[in-house]
Amino acid sequence: MPTTIAFTSCARFKPGQAQTAWRDILAADPDYLFLLGDQIYMDFGLWPFAPEYQGKPKRYSPAQFERVMRDKYERQWCEPNFAALVAHMRAKNGFYGVWDDHDFAWNNAYGQDTTLPADAHMAEKRDIARALFHEFMACAPQPPEVYGAIDTPLARVIFLDNRYHATPLNVPNPVLMGPQQMDFLRRHLSHDRQYTLICGGLTLTYSAENWSNYTAEFAEFRQLVQGARKVLYLGGDIHKNAFKAPAANGLPPCYEIISSGLCVNYLGLPFEFDRRRNWTLLTLDAQQVRVDQHDKKGVTRWRIDAASWQHQALGRELRAA
Ligand SMILES: [Fe+2]
Repeated sequence: MPTTIAFTSCARFKPGQAQTAWRDILAADPDYLFLLGDQIYMDFGLWPFAPEYQGKPKRYSPAQFERVMRDKYERQWCEPNFAALVAHMRAKNGFYGVWDDHDFAWNNAYGQDTTLPADAHMAEKRDIARALFHEFMACAPQPPEVYGAIDTPLARVIFLDNRYHATPLNVPNPVLMGPQQMDFLRRHLSHDRQYTLICGGLTLTYSAENWSNYTAEFAEFRQLVQGARKVLYLGGDIHKNAFKAPAANGLPPCYEIISSGLCVNYLGLPFEFDRRRNWTLLTLDAQQVRVDQHDKKGVTRWRIDAASWQHQALGRELRAA
């Protein structure tokens, strides 16, 4: 029996705008759904064009931050297409996820950022955000941590937290995971399943903010991955779908499959000319991993052979108009 896993990220709720892309996932009826961050947007767009411009939540009091975040979760969780899919996935125990910057605090926020002024209240806000993540996502195997691991019939799945334990890059010895989480990752990479899926909010190699910039920790990650069983890294963040095979220079050290922009406009402008509809369906069986990357115009397909661990592009199909 194959296992099917849908994953995506980045859904920005807007009143009056139905998030119909969730229906496409429900129609595919996967065994699992992984949401890889930015399930809500605490900030979006640039000052002075956007009312909730990037970085604005730094200025909220902790009480205001909690009110705003709870209100955003409640609105998203009431979106009818999303609510129907989440209920369906929970009923089969298939709903999991992680967070990224916009559902953690603000654009490019790091929980261990000591360069922030005291009135940003990071210590309080990161715990408010984590409590609300657990209240609404209710999927983490080992709270209070957002990171954790589960086993599916064919794959060990490891969910990483790129935010709570992270520092910015411009400090001595910057980290994205932190030593305890790296140790957790190391321990959970030894298992008896055929495949290893590692899920994070960020990408390994795409966009300006990615894990490979944290060179010391990434070198350790690269080493761990090379000793592990058939690894696929699943990420979000960039409002695009992307597929990269393992590279000799370690960028990336494993398959890197990104699916981001379920329901968000790409550039963050206050009008909607480039709204995304991106998600990916993985189909795992003993012989292969099929990767179907859906967007608003169609689907791009890939196949990874389990025995050779080589991939093959299967082409692109356009949606019927
Ligand atoms: Fe996003």
